This record gives sequence, C-alpha cells and structure tokens, in this order.
Amino acid sequence: MEPIIEIRSLSKNYGDFSALNSVSLCVEKGTIFGMLGPNGAGKSTLIKVLSCQSRPSAGHAYISGLDVVSDKKEVLSIIGVVPQENSFYDELTVNENLLYFGSLYGVPVIEIKKRSHKVLDMLHLAEKSESKAGTLSGGMKTRLNIACALIHKPDVLILDEPSVGLDPVSRKALWDTIRAVNREGTTILITTHYMEEADLLCDRLLIMNRGKIVVEGKPDELKNAAGEAVIQITSIPGNYQLVKSKVESLEAVSSCGITEKGLKITFKGELPHHAIFEIFKTAGEVINNVGSSRPSLEDVFIHAAGEEWR
Ligand SMILES: Nc1ncnc2c1ncn2[C@@H]1O[C@H](COP(=O)(O)OP(=O)(O)OP(=O)(O)O)[C@@H](O)[C@H]1O
Ligand SMILES: [Mg+2]
Repeated sequence: MEPIIEIRSLSKNYGDFSALNSVSLCVEKGTIFGMLGPNGAGKSTLIKVLSCQSRPSAGHAYISGLDVVSDKKEVLSIIGVVPQENSFYDELTVNENLLYFGSLYGVPVIEIKKRSHKVLDMLHLAEKSESKAGTLSGGMKTRLNIACALIHKPDVLILDEPSVGLDPVSRKALWDTIRAVNREGTTILITTHYMEEADLLCDRLLIMNRGKIVVEGKPDELKNAAGEAVIQITSIPGNYQLVKSKVESLEAVSSCGITEKGLKITFKGELPHHAIFEIFKTAGEVINNVGSSRPSLEDVFIHAAGEEWR
C-alpha cells in the first residue's frame, strides 16, 4: 500500500470543544475514500485541516509526505478542494472561471487552455464553456465547482458533500464524473450523507462520530462485520431435518433452524451458496424459494453513530 494521505493523532479544538479527537488514518493512493458521519461529527473540520484552511491543535497530517502546516504552499499545489458552497464567480463564463482558478494556482495560460478542454470534456460541460456560470443548472454548477478544483491537475481531490441537492440522475452522473477523475490517477476524498453513494462509489470509507473515527474499511467488510445475514430456503418435499445438520457444519454458518417458512440460516461474511444448494440436492430436496437479508451500510451507520442518533 502506498499512502497518499497520512493522518497521525490529529486533534482540533475550538475552545473547550473537541471537534477532532486524535484521529489517525491512511488513505491509499488512487482510491476513492468516503467519510460518513452525522451532522457535527467533524468531517468538514478534517477536510479544512487537510486543505490547510484550519490549523490542527495537535498531531500531524501529510499529503504525499508534505506537512499540511509547514509545507502549506506545496500541499495546496497538489490538492483540489470542492467546498460545499460553489467557489466560482457567477458573472464570469465557465472558461473565464477556469482561467481565474488556473492563474490562482500559477498554471501558465497556455496550459490552462489545454487543461480546460480536457476537464470540460470529462465533466460534460464543453457546450457551456462560453456561458455565464450563474446561468448553469444546479447539476452543472456542481460540475463547474469540480472543474475549478481540477484545473491544476491535483493528485488529491477533496469533495465536501458534492451531491447535496442533485436529482438522482445528476447524482449518478456525478459518480461517473468522480470515477473518471479517479481513473486519471487522482485520489478522491469525499464526504456524503447518502449511504448508496458511499456504498457504490467508495473503495473504502470511514464513519466518524463526535470527532473520532468509529469504523473504517471496505463497504462490504463493514456490512459483514455489522451483524449476521439471514437466508431462508424452502424446498420440496421439505425434510429439513435431513439437511439441517449438514448446513450447520459449514464454517460460515452460525445457526440453522427450521421455521414455518423452511430452513432459516444465519451466517457471517460470505455465504457458501454453492455448498448449501449441493446439500439440498444430495438430500433429494428441490429448492423452490430463497430469500435473504444482510446488514446494510445504513445499519452500519446507525450503529456507529450511536443510540442517540436513532
Ligand atoms: N469555527 C468553529 N468554531 C467553533 N466550533 C466549530 C467551528 N467549526 C466547526 N465547529 C464545530 O465542530 C463540530 C464539527 O463540525 P463539522 O463542520 O466538522 O461537522 P460535519 O461532520 O462536517 O457535519 P455536517 O455533516 O453537518 O456537515 C461541530 O460541533 C461544529 O459546531
Ligand atoms: Mg460538513
């Protein structure tokens, strides 16, 4: 693993209040990394420290080995930040905005022009390059906000709740955009309150609460760890006693009981479907219905966010 973001025992206090409490984290280069957590958990605070807008009270954070406090200028040149509020100017055209942001980062004009084409193509905004930013639709404004953060070709793109207010179609288009940026080699750090977005988009994610990271891992790992999944099988003729003991002996299976609906199997992690179906077949049972349920990311979130969030 090659870490691009390294956070070590990072804290941020506002007076007596601890907004970040000794947070440590590594984000691998090239990944899409999600940050979830209830309102006030500390996500934006962490983003502000990583993007040099706020100094940590204790601890360190490095991006590509550069310290966000002592190497601020270099850090700013390798990250792009998409804040929740649009950062562009409504009165300028799309191209003029990109020129402005490119110049802020010291990118030569000729480079900005080349890069603008590429970025606008990637974000499906090329048609709007001469339109005033203020006249764009909400979804287009979100994409322009991202374009402005990409003009200097950052190694890391940080997005704070970019999909707020987007319709489901625009949101999916935004995921495609983020994946396209990621395929260019850019590491993505994104906060979201949408579980589906975190689940489908992120390679890894964390859930914060009250300034601390509660869980971190791949979405599937977190779901699997959150509790047992259940599968219900009915079959004909339904001599479940015959299959029960064999199913119970499978490693992933934690319990197996006979209910009115057939055989109810609880398990952790991946279910050995194939082995179970084989057991039924060998016992002369013909399966006619299979139903299953497993913990969702929302279950993980609610658990991690604590009882008071229920
Ligand atoms: N400048 C500040 N002064 C005092 N308290 C602050 C300041 N900035 C943030 N906080 C507090 O720090 C805590 C974390 O805020 P933060 O904005 O990081 O939360 P968040 O996880 O981004 O929440 P949301 O999901 O609502 O955006 C909150 O209790 C907030 O009130
Ligand atoms: Mg926030």
